[in-house]
Amino acid sequence: MKKRVFSGIKPTGDVHIGRYLGAIRHWVSMQDDYDNIFCIVDMHAITVPQDPRVLNAKIREFAGLLLAAGIDPERSIVFMQSHVSAHAELAWILNCFIPMGWMYRMTQFKEKAEKEKEQVSVGLFDYPSLMAADILLYKTDAVPVGEDQKQHVELARDAAQRFNNIYGETFVLPEPLIPDVGARIMGLDDPTKKMSGSEMGAGHSINLLDSPDMIRSKIMKATTDSRRDILFDESRPGIFNLLTIYETITGEERKDIEAKFEGKGYSDFKEALAETVTECLRPLQERYRELTAEPGRIDSILKEGAAKARPIAEKMLAEVKKKVGLG
Ligand code: TYM
Repeated sequence: MKKRVFSGIKPTGDVHIGRYLGAIRHWVSMQDDYDNIFCIVDMHAITVPQDPRVLNAKIREFAGLLLAAGIDPERSIVFMQSHVSAHAELAWILNCFIPMGWMYRMTQFKEKAEKEKEQVSVGLFDYPSLMAADILLYKTDAVPVGEDQKQHVELARDAAQRFNNIYGETFVLPEPLIPDVGARIMGLDDPTKKMSGSEMGAGHSINLLDSPDMIRSKIMKATTDSRRDILFDESRPGIFNLLTIYETITGEERKDIEAKFEGKGYSDFKEALAETVTECLRPLQERYRELTAEPGRIDSILKEGAAKARPIAEKMLAEVKKKVGLG
């Protein structure tokens, strides 16, 4: 029996190379080793205001990009969270077991709430509980995510443990799987901030559907420093981030990369990086164009994915309800 992997992506903003290098690429490469479930978490998207038409289009775009990146619906279940109502139901039950104190400690909530203060929704506060439900419904062993989601996966694990302590073995305790390199890609415009999908400036992120010209222009303008030497030096966050992107895509050793660019300047390195990113994204973009040229293809894959996910989730939910004494 293969171990189960579950992971999710929130269909807001763009699929940028942070999301790709930190998560999606690993989902693709692990497909043969695990039993995989990947979810477009549309209910998480509405924890902040969304334009319904944009959200609807983003769900298809994100699903299309996962498939174009190499997620194979024959080997992995790909579905939309809102198609399987067990997610919302289990989130409610978990709400009744997760202490408020655990939720207050979530750094992502603190950061987001800081900006919006009183306007922040209850859903945003409760985000980790829905995420725990996503993971726990499928008896997930491993959750491949970028660094920013580690705390949420740990909360899911703690919630599972707490429930199991009260009701006996029910949930599998999930482990976060965080890649050694590329787990935290930073913004090109400001390398002290994580590359993010939400309302950032035009030069902030490289998105999977960016044209070669856009990629080049964003990389050439990326913030660096006034030095010249190209070294993996964490105290120089701009060049360090660009080098990390290069390292993650090429898989080359740090010392080899440094040797390759010895004596060259930032602009030579940036040209090489732009070429590397463009070539990495080219086949994905071609597959995306082919997929979207077939009307209804993405929708039918999502529908089939939900039909496979639903019975697994419903079985788990039924077990939980029975243990809790519901129904
Ligand atoms: P989301 O949509 O923000 O990101 C999708 C995945 O990409 C990773 N990631 C990054 N990795 C490296 N550098 C970055 N700059 C970067 N930005 C994003 C994220 O860590 C993530 O793995 N809450 C989740 C979605 C979710 C989920 C789940 C994930 C909902 N339910 C259950 C796993 C399991 C999120 O918003 O990811």
